[in-house]
Amino acid sequence: MIDSKQQEKREVALKAAELVKDGNIVGLGSGSTMDFVIVELGRRIKDGLQFTGVASSLKTERLADSYGISMQELGMTSGIDISIDGANEFTEQLHLIKGGGGSLFREKIVASLSNNTIIVTDSTKKVNQLGQFGVPVEVVPSAYEFVKKQLIKLGGNPIIRKSLAENFITDNGNFVFDVDFGIIGNPACLAQQLDGIVGILEHGLFVSLTTKILMANGNEVVTFT
Ligand code: A5P
Repeated sequence: MIDSKQQEKREVALKAAELVKDGNIVGLGSGSTMDFVIVELGRRIKDGLQFTGVASSLKTERLADSYGISMQELGMTSGIDISIDGANEFTEQLHLIKGGGGSLFREKIVASLSNNTIIVTDSTKKVNQLGQFGVPVEVVPSAYEFVKKQLIKLGGNPIIRKSLAENFITDNGNFVFDVDFGIIGNPACLAQQLDGIVGILEHGLFVSLTTKILMANGNEVVTFT
């Protein structure tokens, strides 16, 4: 039996999958909402849809492959017609926190390459101001202590992400700090400060990278642009 949150994820996924057209290069994000998108795109392929996917994580790549989606390497991609991805938090200003699954680096490359970035969420992800969800920060292991100190200087409380007893390792072989900055009054300013710290590969603040957010709310899908 599928719960109401899962039902919302499926609703919004179906809506977003309709936006993919024949011949598109399609950025495929990561997370459980995206899993529904990929399943629907696989179904549309059986109906004759033809497109090429670009995956934002190894998990997405494997899933897309299993649904018969033909894939292109992210590193060989110079432009994406449309990308679809999830988010952990968003505001009406289209600022996002992403990276709950640890795929923030590739997700940000996909969003940056995309002409049309569509975010799909259930109704629990909308907030007035970002910050209840800690900002994921991908750090190169050899910069661990240095970056931790810089994050504390910025007012954050960095907690290293664990997978069972071990440090979580990203697709790029790095660690992730989940950083509590409290309520983030100015996401663009914080993003810039994080961009300036040596040893951070990428962070999960997505500012000015989104075209449209589709949020399921019960049986309807609400659009934010
Ligand atoms: C992955 O790194 C994240 O950015 C996901 O897009 C995010 O965690 C959303 O996941 P769900 O669709 O599972 O809520």
